[in-house]
This record gives sequence, structure tokens and C-alpha cells, in this order.
Amino acid sequence: MPAAATTRALIAAARTARRRAQARFSGFKVGAALEAADGTIITGCNIENATYGLTICAERVAMFKALSEGHRTFRRVAVVADTEAPTPPCGACRQILWEFGGDLEILLANLRRQTGTYRLADLLPLPFDARLL
Ligand code: THU
Repeated sequence: MPAAATTRALIAAARTARRRAQARFSGFKVGAALEAADGTIITGCNIENATYGLTICAERVAMFKALSEGHRTFRRVAVVADTEAPTPPCGACRQILWEFGGDLEILLANLRRQTGTYRLADLLPLPFDARLL
């Protein structure tokens, strides 16, 4: 089985990605780092724009980048924001992470420490997905 990134490396990658956030409207910068099954880390940051509504979260940027680069199975995702309380993925991101990543482990962290570990199935109970179509 390919080597997994260490938890420390995955969170560090999310912190680095966060620095690239385009968050001039909210000022709320988020970074995400997705670990693919082959050990590759794919990062994302939130990207806001002048219409506000077209904002895309760090988690979805990471997942869409990963899919477009050919990754199909994933293990974990780290999400970093500069908050004392854990910043969990929004509802839209939970849906996309579930559909393309399944029951991922979700590592939440701020700039200093890890703030929580969750399973996506616990954050998105009774999901709607392609099995129902
Ligand atoms: N945001 C994320 O990128 N990920 C999250 O998990 C929560 C929210 C972004 C969206 C928006 O750019 C800003 O944070 C404030 O909601």
C-alpha cells in the first residue's frame, strides 16, 4: 500500500494552501489538503469573487483539482482556518466530498494545533448520492 502522508504533513500542506486564499470580501482564509489513495496531497484554498455568490470553498477546490488531475480515491482531508473553534466543511462541501471521496477522515486544525478529527459519514448522515438515482 502506498505510503500515507503524516498527519503533520497533511495539515502543514493545508496551512500553506490557506496562505494563497483569495478572501478579500470575507477576510476568512481557509486551506484544504486532500490525501489521495496513492499518497499524493492535493491542496485547495477558498476563492471569492466580486459577485460573492460564485465563491468556492477550499475543500471543493482541492477535490475538483484532484479529480481533474485523475485521482479517484481518497483517504483524508485536512482543513485549516485561523479560528480557535474547529471550522468544519460547509454543507455543499460535505456533499461533494462524500460523492467523490466517500467516508473520508476530516482533520480540522488552526494555525497552531489540530482542533478535531471526524468521519464524513458522521458529519453528513443520511446522504443523497448516486446510489439513489
Ligand atoms: N469557507 C471555506 O473555504 N471552507 C469552509 O470549510 C468554510 C468556509 C470559505 C468560504 C468563504 O470564502 C469564507 O470561507 C467565508 O465563508
